[in-house]
Amino acid sequence: MTKLWNSSNKKKTNPLVERYTAGTDHVFDMLLFPFDIEATLVHARGLKKIGILSDAESRKIEKALAAFSRDVVAGKVQITIADEDCHTVIENFLVRELGDTGKKVHTGRSRNDQVLVAVRLYMKHALSAIRSHCLELADLFLAQAKRYEKLPMPGYSHTQQAMLTSVGHYFASYVESLLDDETFLASISDHIDKNPLGSAAGFGTAISVDRAFTTRELGFESIQMNSLYCQTSRGKFESAFLEGLSQVSVTLSRFANDMLIFTSQEFGYFSADEVITTGSSIMPHKKNLDPLEIARGAAAILLGNQVAVKELSRNLISGYNRDLQLIKKPLFESTQLVSDTLAVVGIVLRHLTPDKDRIRAALNPGMFTADIANDMVMTAGMPFRDAYQKAAGMVATNVDLAHNLSSKRSIGAPGNLCLPAYAARIRSRRKILH
Ligand code: ARG
Repeated sequence: MTKLWNSSNKKKTNPLVERYTAGTDHVFDMLLFPFDIEATLVHARGLKKIGILSDAESRKIEKALAAFSRDVVAGKVQITIADEDCHTVIENFLVRELGDTGKKVHTGRSRNDQVLVAVRLYMKHALSAIRSHCLELADLFLAQAKRYEKLPMPGYSHTQQAMLTSVGHYFASYVESLLDDETFLASISDHIDKNPLGSAAGFGTAISVDRAFTTRELGFESIQMNSLYCQTSRGKFESAFLEGLSQVSVTLSRFANDMLIFTSQEFGYFSADEVITTGSSIMPHKKNLDPLEIARGAAAILLGNQVAVKELSRNLISGYNRDLQLIKKPLFESTQLVSDTLAVVGIVLRHLTPDKDRIRAALNPGMFTADIANDMVMTAGMPFRDAYQKAAGMVATNVDLAHNLSSKRSIGAPGNLCLPAYAARIRSRRKILH
């Protein structure tokens, strides 16, 4: 395949050097195609606007890109190591189809701003997809929270039984966590919503590209102005994106860890349907919750990837450096992992059933001493510290669990989950997203 930087008097690159520098772009750039095509289309429209392409030429380019896009969707396009990346494949296609007209497309742009804009469009797209997955999962947790609103379970601090709570209260904590993760992702989406196209290799261009036009056409909120900063923001924007994703993965990892413990033989608070478990090749009785172990591990990968991306970009001389290409693997891998984990946790959640009797049998009566102390405060007007001393060592008998739960009325407490507020929040976030 013709390299974009080939000239007739250049010696052929050593094959190992070629493979080494192309790296995994031939795999991961497949995901960038739709966005690179879109940006190329808009760039061509911009060239027409400033008179570099005629109407007829620009129409030809639009048609060719539409055909190319269909080929990509149909799986007919592959990137080879010799191609280097998706940008080369698109340009070679246009030159093959349109000759000189195809050659004009690269006027006023560099692969450096081309990859920036494609990755940025990819991230914006991924953020809205992941945000909608977060809302879906929050909705599912909400349904479970409603269903088990009044089912008592022990609440823990320091891994010791602390106070009575409910399965609904526990599930609702994940509704709110996912809702916060979603708004955090939205703020990251706003932060990165800046158009780097037109910054060329990092130092602008003498071609009078209309950056305001391409910004509008590509649906960016604003222009990322300083052309050098466009380059130096590569890695910073990606790691901000990964920070958002890793917040989601931390939420899911905590849930996974809880459930791995709560479904163990020792706890038995929940049972897992066989459709979400795997077996052991040697121990016939085993029902393992592997998907949640992968979900927990995914958070570790996300954190590692975020650090890798920051490391890759923090100490480069200002401008483009090929190191930046290595950001793509952690970026795409993390996006896929978080999307998949959100979907899988949803499936798991649907197939977990609380075991009322096991939970009840596990309740430790010592857990109610704080309630006894609070009772003394409320009924006898005793100062809490004195009530605490008096209650220590008392053992509550015949506790009315339902009454105990419903007595905790402060906002967000087990007796006042405020579930309708979450339902309203999910509805309004969905509206914003669509
Ligand atoms: N594959 C390259 C990357 O992701 C594209 C940019 C190439 N630019 C260059 N000057 N070699 O970074």
